[in-house]
Amino acid sequence: MNINNLKTRKIFVTTALPYANGKLHIGHIMEFIQADIWVRFQRMQKNIEVYFIGADDTHGVPVMLEAKKKKKKIEEFIYNINIERKKLLKKFYISFDNYYITDSIENHILSKKIYLYLRDKSKMISFKKVEQFFDLKKKIFLSDRYIKGTCPKCDALNQNSDFCEICGSVYSLMELKNPYSIFSNKKIIKKKSDHIFFLLSKKKCINFLSKWIFKKPKFQTEVINKAKEWLLKNNLKDWDISRDYPYFGIKIPDTLNKYFYVWLDAPIAYISSLKNFLDRKNINYNFFLKDKYTEQYHFIGKDIIYFHILFWPAILKFSKNKLPTNIFVHGFITINGKKLSKSNNYRICPLKYLNLGFNPEWLRYYIAYKLNSKIKDIDLNIDDFIYRINSDLIGKYINIPSRISKFICNNFNYKLNTNWGVKYYYLLRNIKGIFNNIYKFYEERNFKKVLYFIMKIINKINIYINFNKPWNFFKKDKNLQKICSYLLECFRIITIYLKPILPLLSIKIEKFLNINFLSWLDIKKTLPNNHSINYYKHLLKKVDLNIKEKLFKNFY
Ligand code: 2FM
Ligand code: ZN
Repeated sequence: MNINNLKTRKIFVTTALPYANGKLHIGHIMEFIQADIWVRFQRMQKNIEVYFIGADDTHGVPVMLEAKKKKKKIEEFIYNINIERKKLLKKFYISFDNYYITDSIENHILSKKIYLYLRDKSKMISFKKVEQFFDLKKKIFLSDRYIKGTCPKCDALNQNSDFCEICGSVYSLMELKNPYSIFSNKKIIKKKSDHIFFLLSKKKCINFLSKWIFKKPKFQTEVINKAKEWLLKNNLKDWDISRDYPYFGIKIPDTLNKYFYVWLDAPIAYISSLKNFLDRKNINYNFFLKDKYTEQYHFIGKDIIYFHILFWPAILKFSKNKLPTNIFVHGFITINGKKLSKSNNYRICPLKYLNLGFNPEWLRYYIAYKLNSKIKDIDLNIDDFIYRINSDLIGKYINIPSRISKFICNNFNYKLNTNWGVKYYYLLRNIKGIFNNIYKFYEERNFKKVLYFIMKIINKINIYINFNKPWNFFKKDKNLQKICSYLLECFRIITIYLKPILPLLSIKIEKFLNINFLSWLDIKKTLPNNHSINYYKHLLKKVDLNIKEKLFKNFY
């Protein structure tokens, strides 16, 4: 990859919008970190504009009920959550350009506009009467996951609406015996209501999806396989996009008291949040999104592939909007091999992680070390976490300046000697030589591979230090100055490679080396002769070995 030959790219990147009904968990932070590393990698290039956009998903029943439980007005409730989340994201150095909400004016307007286009121009909307369960006490219609009852096969109590955890049978909601609402624990009744459907099963929609998914973008194999399963079995169903009052959401035009189902307007907020940002920057949003060079990427978890590979592109297509360039799917995160669970309190609260004094960059590093472009789950293993940070990141990378900077500071008045001559070149050539791999693997979100190449080189640098033994030189020996300057130059380039993963650490290193913000182009440069560095202060703390106990005591 020749970094000078890149065409100008405009990249619009989003992460999935977390519901505003609870705290962010480590799984959310993992996705934010993944996207942020990718975004920072792109931003370090020349001729590239990146727009990193997020929002809270503020609509739907769970958010509504949570606000009620907390005795807050819903608008106030979601506003406060949004403020707190923005603060938390900053602490993990997640560099969103805009982190907005789905209940914004822009999203109300855009969702209605898209709906009307789908209804009137593309004829992709239909109306049908639907019989649904209704909670008489709470006065709400209930979707399947809020209903429990007795298994029709084995009579086990308190089973899911479609699956029995005791005997393993699968059944339909209508077969479930004694259905009750999980909100009121009361029996529920059936009630009819008009519903609005997006015609996902229409021929032109299936034709479009089959073509688009299999021919155009380069989706991950697992995503293609899923899509094949859904599309080729010909079992796409029209999608109910309306919900009855009471519902916190966007009112559907020309209806009395009907609201868009949360999943209709949530992805639309990808664009409305972008619009809110561009408006404030005086950038023409229509122009931006119509530009055929604008690339649009969505980072999501494996649980919401269906929405993003079928509904979302279909909505975009039939409302004449730009289609995603790609959808990047990741797996879940487990901790010490165990699934996270709200009900068992098996979670790490990111805020507590920080409040206990744990460094956000440790987590960024470890998550990067685990992530590749596959959809497999990753495991946060606490022992491995400690090992990777203390032995690799600090013991090998930070070890470089910590072993050699004192010679430059104390013996050569902070000045470098970069006339090191050809005999020193090989290590530096090796380091610069891995650039193409680093670039490729960042682009492919294979951060594990990025770190593999970096660590391999860092090992070589440490071997070089051990071999040359700077501590055995006479204090004022010019060769000592050259070797240490050379090693700092190697360290500078490795720092460029690590910068998307470790943004704060890179700033500290830029200060220590007394240089401007590093970008990919700085790989081609060399520190000038006689350049003065600054006093070396320790750059990163080791992980306290009690982390395990502290973290596990503080699962919540
Ligand atoms: O699954 C979720 O948490 C949803 N709130 C994600 C929405 S992503 C997007 F489509 F808005
Ligand atoms: Zn059963």
